[in-house]
Amino acid sequence: MDRLLEVKDLSVYYGVIQALKGISFHVDKGEVVALIGANGAGKTTTLHTLSQLIGADGGSIEYKGHNLTKTPNHKIVELGMVQVPEGRRVFAEMTVLQNLKMGAYTRKDKAEIEETLEKIYKRFPRLEERKNQLAGTLSGGEQQMLAMGRALMSHPEIILMDEPSMGLSPIFVNEIFKIIEDVNKDGVTVLLVEQNAKKALSIANRAYVLETGAIVKEGDAKELLNDESIKKAYLGE
Ligand SMILES: Nc1ncnc2c1ncn2[C@@H]1O[C@H](COP(=O)(O)OP(=O)(O)OP(=O)(O)O)[C@@H](O)[C@H]1O
Ligand SMILES: [Mg+2]
Repeated sequence: MDRLLEVKDLSVYYGVIQALKGISFHVDKGEVVALIGANGAGKTTTLHTLSQLIGADGGSIEYKGHNLTKTPNHKIVELGMVQVPEGRRVFAEMTVLQNLKMGAYTRKDKAEIEETLEKIYKRFPRLEERKNQLAGTLSGGEQQMLAMGRALMSHPEIILMDEPSMGLSPIFVNEIFKIIEDVNKDGVTVLLVEQNAKKALSIANRAYVLETGAIVKEGDAKELLNDESIKKAYLGE
């Protein structure tokens, strides 16, 4: 399989606190890889470091032959890696359409951007219906869709999703996970950070378990779903 992303011995400090203690993991082209863990485990820190919103203090991040620890965020988006942030972070005072267009800021070809927009409207009919609505007035689930749509506007090869199901009703959670699966089927690789471990493991190929800044377990997602210690700690069983 094609290695898309290879992270080795990554460490990050916030002041004297070490948030990532030398973690290593990889993502192959076409996979859905889940990163699960409790509050404060370092999941968001991991994604922010991949996107270079936070600088690494040690280790390496290799993506398609590029060393991302030396690459500015906008360049990373251009290279095909985009993050859907925790808590959506849509531009509340802008319309749905304006938010989507912002997602294409690294692209130049207007016709191609328009084509992507049409695809996104097909995937998220709610967004098309609400294209002139201010993003801040969307429901939580709709904002999550918008955040995903905005990320897809960059035409990514890999999408980093930070807790897409957070705060959503079960119906919306199912809808969002279905969309993640569909996006993956269309060829986009997914690194999925979730506290909803059950859902994440049910759609992932492989998974890593992060505990206080260290990867304590990794493996086939279906096997982890049946792992007794994972069941107890993360699946509420
Ligand atoms: N800007 C910061 N300054 C100092 N400490 C931070 C900062 N951001 C995160 N931390 C700390 O780093 C650790 C990891 O935080 P992180 O946000 O990566 O966790 P998380 O796994 O995403 O948690 P959650 O599930 O609650 O989103 C936590 O102990 C947190 O308090
Ligand atoms: Mg987080």
